[in-house]
Amino acid sequence: MITIALAKGRLAKGGLELFQKAGISCQEYSKASRKLIFMSDDGGYRFIMVKPSDVPTYVEYGAADVGVVGKDTLLEEGRAVYELLDLKFAQCKIVVAGFEDKKKDLITNSSTRVATKYPNIAHSYFSEKGEIVEIIKLNGSVELGPIIGLSDVIVDIVESGRTLKENGLVVLEEICPITARLVVNQVSLKTKKDEMKYMIESLERILEEEEKDD
Ligand code: PRP
Repeated sequence: MITIALAKGRLAKGGLELFQKAGISCQEYSKASRKLIFMSDDGGYRFIMVKPSDVPTYVEYGAADVGVVGKDTLLEEGRAVYELLDLKFAQCKIVVAGFEDKKKDLITNSSTRVATKYPNIAHSYFSEKGEIVEIIKLNGSVELGPIIGLSDVIVDIVESGRTLKENGLVVLEEICPITARLVVNQVSLKTKKDEMKYMIESLERILEEEEKDD
């Protein structure tokens, strides 16, 4: 049996849809359920629902053989997992955002405060540009930072852009594009070689078909 860690929330649905197209369906899954483990119809796969930031941890330790997680989480967590496939769904961007008046020239210095759920990504981005800023870690509703005066700007993920717009903020700089990724445990690749190969090839086939349709 293969254990697949799915990031609860936006990514779980897309992940299950992709597995279903690849012939691995899980009718037992229901978004409304509070269950954390769902078995595939054929009993060959076990889906576990975990917090997005915990997906790489489960896979690194081999508690899950495979994980579906956003590239943002992989960059932020820096865990020892093998990133095998770009699953192409859940497309979004990591950006620096703030009020429009900062758009012309965002000048950062050591007194610039950056609120973010992604302190490691933010730190790498500004240090690579040779800029030192103060990073304030938040766990959600990051857009409040500049509005309430906690920070000058934010580093956050943007999907539709609605949250920024409805809170009067704009994208100031784009850091990187993000999509869902398939990560695997290196040991599982060897110990469950045939099952893993079958699953990966089924997913690759679907991804190729979807690319042709685009
Ligand atoms: C994420 C992100 C933005 C929002 C962007 O938050 O931090 O707030 O989604 O999506 P949009 O561009 O489609 O509006 P999430 O929904 O994960 O909630 P959180 O702020 O509580 O972490």
